[in-house]
Amino acid sequence: MAHILVLYYSRGGHTAQISRAIADQIIANGDQCDVVNIHDTKQKPIEWDKYQAVALGACVLYGSYHKSVFEFVSQHQQALSNIPNSFFCVNVVARNPEKRIPENNKYLQKFLTLSAWKPQDVKIIAGKVDYPSWPWYDSLMIRLIMKMTDGPTDPTAIIDYTDWEDVKAYGNHIAKLAQVEFS
Ligand SMILES: Cc1cc2nc3c(=O)[nH]c(=O)nc-3n(C[C@H](O)[C@H](O)[C@H](O)COP(=O)(O)O)c2cc1C
Repeated sequence: MAHILVLYYSRGGHTAQISRAIADQIIANGDQCDVVNIHDTKQKPIEWDKYQAVALGACVLYGSYHKSVFEFVSQHQQALSNIPNSFFCVNVVARNPEKRIPENNKYLQKFLTLSAWKPQDVKIIAGKVDYPSWPWYDSLMIRLIMKMTDGPTDPTAIIDYTDWEDVKAYGNHIAKLAQVEFS
């Protein structure tokens, strides 16, 4: 039985929910899985030796990622690279299936360019639009961007673009990564 770590950065909670769904699938496969917010790792350092694979997810905010994501991967790049590893990127541009192809997703490309950790494996997951729960200025800004890109602009819109079956498939994929001989 493998022990797998799912790390995440989430601002509004959706990436956290995706992380838990990945973990649920891994556990359903018979492996063990811990889900950890990267912000909690300061108080409780990660025991890297326990794990046979790691997936790290982050949501896209204004074309990039929260700086704590880059700080985290820079600080832990060696530990992340020592075991089978994957990065998953959550954004709403990926509501368009073409933008779920790594080469076509500028946010994923940006991460690969800026990150000190070069993940072995990558995944793009469509996120959630939740205008009512976002601060008014964020809601306004995203609605303006959506207007230019033919997306939803209704301020009351809550739209979950995540393909939850695909999230389960990604959980299975991570479980398989943990089985592969890694050096
Ligand atoms: C302030 C803000 C900025 C965002 N910027 C982008 C963006 O530039 N591109 C994009 O595709 N999605 C963008 N999104 C959408 C988020 O990536 C998406 O809502 C994701 O599901 C948020 O995950 P979270 O709930 O874990 O924070 C933005 C969302 C917010 C709230």
